[in-house]
Amino acid sequence: MNKASEEHLGMRISGWGVALPERIVTNDELSQTLDTSNEWILERSGIAERRIGGSTGSLAVEAGKLALKSAGVGPETIDLLIIATTTPDDQIPATSSKVQHELGLSCGAMDINAACSGFVYSLVTGCGFLKAGCNRVLVIGAETLSRFTNWEDRSTAILFGDGAGAVVIEPSDAGGKLLGWDLSSSGELRDILHAVIGGTLYMAGSEVFRKAVIAMTESGKSAIAKAGVSPEEISLVIPHQANIRIIETSMKKLGIPLERAVWVGDKTANTSAASIPIALGHALDNNQVAANDLILLVGFGAGMTAASAVIQWGEINE
Ligand code: UT7
Repeated sequence: MNKASEEHLGMRISGWGVALPERIVTNDELSQTLDTSNEWILERSGIAERRIGGSTGSLAVEAGKLALKSAGVGPETIDLLIIATTTPDDQIPATSSKVQHELGLSCGAMDINAACSGFVYSLVTGCGFLKAGCNRVLVIGAETLSRFTNWEDRSTAILFGDGAGAVVIEPSDAGGKLLGWDLSSSGELRDILHAVIGGTLYMAGSEVFRKAVIAMTESGKSAIAKAGVSPEEISLVIPHQANIRIIETSMKKLGIPLERAVWVGDKTANTSAASIPIALGHALDNNQVAANDLILLVGFGAGMTAASAVIQWGEINE
């Protein structure tokens, strides 16, 4: 059992922000160049459109700025920047270098690559740094999957999009807590979803689908158990926005009603490490979170990785 479960780290998300490229690419537009259709994509994935454009760094800067503004804090107050991305702008240095500079931060900065699970990996890492003495950590999930997509491959091109989501986290004694978390990796499955350096994404779609349901269910259950709560007590689930069918099946297996899951993938497609903070930002902007709510973040991705966190929301106007 991890330590967060025993000591329940007091933390709160004090600000958030979402950045999406302006350009909308609909299923119908993709159908003009690919042997596919709006009906097929909608039925098999729930995706209607995606946003394409920008760079990972520029989207991260935009989301980060909004998160700082919403937290009401200046860049000088951030003690650490973590960027979750599997599509960095450069091989070297980390995308976080550019983002740190452009946001005017004067703290340490690093990237974490755990594919689509990267944001939850980074959030849990950020919480560890709060425990180690940081007062405020900026965690951003940012991706430009469109740069790694083979636009002639209908089995992958329909699924992905670009975007970024950011949160500011800080210690709290007003009820907000990281109650439990789970991070996992099954490296033996790394070949079913991968891109070699300089290449585009390869995915064994239906195998990834099956493994994704297992990973989401096991990871989610593990975090819920470590949090010491029951699935019925979870008021909101922010799942990785890969495919509505994966979410439907996983929610059933987790024992949580589907209505409690946030789904924005119809508008964003799969934005990998950005998908959970984008969906979380959407839920927060739409007042879907109340004081003392228990929120489950749950994701899976290439690796295959999986990651979950159960967060208790604190006082709303802290
Ligand atoms: O962040 C993690 C990343 N990845 C994922 O989460 C993806 C997980 N997998 C999936 O979401 C689904 O497997 C897909 C949406 C990719 C595909 O859905 P599926 O129900 O698993 O379809 P399938 O791969 O079994 O393909 C069924 C048929 C095949 O034709 P045949 O062999 O039955 O004749 C495919 O060639 O659908 C065909 N197909 C398409 N048809 C129209 C595959 N892609 C397309 C397409 N349009 N875009």
